[in-house]
Amino acid sequence: MNLLIKNGIIIDSNNIYKSDIYIVNEKIDSIGKNIKVKTSNIIDADNCYILPGFIDVHTHFNIPFFDTFSSDDFFSGSIALATGGTTFFIDYICPDDDKLVKAADLWFEKSKYSIIDYSFHCIIKQVTKNTYNDMKILSSNGITSFKIFSAYPNFLLLENEKIFQVLKYAKELNSLVCFHAETGEVIQNLISDSKKNGFTSPINHFITRPEILELEAIERIIKFADLLKTSIYIVHLSSINSLNKIILAKKKGLNIFTESCPQYLVFDSTEYCIDNFYSSKFVMSPPLRNKYNKNELWKAIRNNNLNIISTDHCSFFLNDQKIKSDFSKIPNGVALGQYRAILLYNYGVLTKKITLNKWIDILSVYPSKLFGLYPKKGAILPGSDADIVIFNPNKKSIFFNNSNTDFNDFSNFSFLGLIEAVFSRGKLIFKKNKISKNIYKHGTFVKRKKVNFDLF
Ligand code: URP
Ligand code: ZN
Ligand code: ZN
Repeated sequence: MNLLIKNGIIIDSNNIYKSDIYIVNEKIDSIGKNIKVKTSNIIDADNCYILPGFIDVHTHFNIPFFDTFSSDDFFSGSIALATGGTTFFIDYICPDDDKLVKAADLWFEKSKYSIIDYSFHCIIKQVTKNTYNDMKILSSNGITSFKIFSAYPNFLLLENEKIFQVLKYAKELNSLVCFHAETGEVIQNLISDSKKNGFTSPINHFITRPEILELEAIERIIKFADLLKTSIYIVHLSSINSLNKIILAKKKGLNIFTESCPQYLVFDSTEYCIDNFYSSKFVMSPPLRNKYNKNELWKAIRNNNLNIISTDHCSFFLNDQKIKSDFSKIPNGVALGQYRAILLYNYGVLTKKITLNKWIDILSVYPSKLFGLYPKKGAILPGSDADIVIFNPNKKSIFFNNSNTDFNDFSNFSFLGLIEAVFSRGKLIFKKNKISKNIYKHGTFVKRKKVNFDLF
């Protein structure tokens, strides 16, 4: 297979330049002006941006949650992601117990249906004599990051001693620990009080998970990381007070990486004030925050204090799964995997909060570099995988929901910028609102290199 993309405007971390790109088989062969090759497979990308396929390092496909499973599997989920320009994702393996390698085998089985490439992190919810060995096996097989929770008691929460132990193991294995920061035990107490007093509607999800309990968990994990002189990756950060603690710790020399999500940059807690039906959609953890956080998070992206915006894509049906009479029984999660790039473009680039280069950094370059994928992924360079998005900044998008859910949050939105085409390793996945045929199982597992700690 060879393909010549002509006259596009390539965007990377530092440059915006007009060039042709020649793709041979699955890789970028060459980049340059007026490339002359013998092929009839030519796309004219005049006035379009040529972008490195986006990378989403936080998804939950078919994950058990309370009494149900998230509704996107690797097939529907990868379609939703790809139609939003994402060509690589990292999903969280969720073990039932301490058997991480066994759980990884199940994830390898489920993930065969993905249409784009992917890798895994592994959740650790029990620490036993098996844990170190399993972490070692996984990290030597390219699963070089793990996730632990201080939230969700009796489900995913790890106590302090276990959290500390996992940090020690990961340090020894040169792997990265991803941390969900909320103080679950105290939240549980607030939930019990709320229900005792008859407050059971979805807004109480927001009220019982206050910002200060994200801050508490962040302060704690920073102290543990400091004690061990190790790195940590904070997932789905939602509030600015917590981020300020991280910034201080970074100034002290600690290697702390932070991710946030489009939901915390675009929406806020006023979404919980509409009606119970609508609010249920936004039951996620951490919850949406008060408005003032949003601007500060954008500022942090600009100042390089917030490096990765992934989605925490975790879909549920509104009618069959999310609507409950008790907020504490609603499975947590939103499904913005398809909308990440266009939201960040409209709310970030077009409002001049971030530059086009920064847009590409947080979508592709930084996640690729941190999670051991660069320059195979997240780069438009000779030799990189031909994971490419053709983006037309002058056309409007219409979004058809491709996630396996019963609602489309953005059917009434008019966004500027259209994803014209998406290629995964040179294969056309999506063009002009049409998903290609014969892409079933196109995605492959990518063994990641060790995490790159010396980055930002
Ligand atoms: O509400 C959320 N975030 N659901 C997914 C699980 C998690 O905590 O990341
Ligand atoms: Zn989480
Ligand atoms: Zn998550």
